[in-house]
Amino acid sequence: MKISVIGAGNVGATCANVIAHGNFAKEVVLLDIKEGLSEGKALDMWEASPVNYYSTRITGVTNDYSATAGAAVTIITSGIPRRPGMSRDDLIGTNAGIVKSVTENVIKHSPDTIIIVVANPLDVMSYCAYLTAQTASNKVFGMAGILDTARYRSFLALELGVSPKDIQAVLMGGHGDTMVPLPRYTTVAGIPITELVSEERLNAIVQRTKKGGGELVKLMGTSAWYAPGAAAAQMAETIVKDEKRIFPCCTWLTGEYGLKDIYLGVPVVLGANGIEKVLELDLNDDEKALLYQSADAVKGVMKVLDDMKLF
Ligand code: LAC
Repeated sequence: MKISVIGAGNVGATCANVIAHGNFAKEVVLLDIKEGLSEGKALDMWEASPVNYYSTRITGVTNDYSATAGAAVTIITSGIPRRPGMSRDDLIGTNAGIVKSVTENVIKHSPDTIIIVVANPLDVMSYCAYLTAQTASNKVFGMAGILDTARYRSFLALELGVSPKDIQAVLMGGHGDTMVPLPRYTTVAGIPITELVSEERLNAIVQRTKKGGGELVKLMGTSAWYAPGAAAAQMAETIVKDEKRIFPCCTWLTGEYGLKDIYLGVPVVLGANGIEKVLELDLNDDEKALLYQSADAVKGVMKVLDDMKLF
């Protein structure tokens, strides 16, 4: 199966690299607008294949979308990353036009592809790709929940001194400071987290998770790539293998949780058909209030996109 990764910056290159190491795709095409960048990164990754034992064929192209033709899955990482002092929402003016034009080209050559959006502001760029692609909503969705949940799980692993592998959690809402980690749906090898971590520490970890992307922007002067790239690759793997894993993904809602006409992070079953099912949890009133607050924040940014009159 062929996977396209659009954008050979830090996130796109990391994502392609993780996919190659997973050895589940026949071919990865990495595309960028900068001459030579994706060709070079793809060649470097291919040269690692004898060392790291994978046969996934990676090639890089400069803006040649015909090379992406027939991709089963396309991951869109194109766009500018945020700099210190910027919120993800500040990127919309630049990234909306980029995501629109990339999606047009992607769909032209791979009309049946499943699209995973990684560009920020994530929820609204997923909406932008959906409006452009004019394909079924189960085939256009965003990567954020796996990343945000991974941050939450990794912080809990540090707190408890246990393996992150044993920490399971659900996190919902937008990919921004209003995201909603859900302690009531967080367990450590089946043990409710509330039995292991004090309320005060848990609150601190929830707050750190919400600002997790910003913590890295402050440290590095640009946004993160290892965890975002790996998270997008995990979604591609689940789709290619039709694993039907349950992940929080940024999904078009049509009434679930009382929300509709919005892209927002919710738990879903992910398989060969993309979003195969949205899981509706029985949230309590406090959790619902946080989710609706997050939905309102995303709606505000959706309005900015609508006002740009790109569609
Ligand atoms: C982050 C960016 C990729 O959360 O949104 O690190």
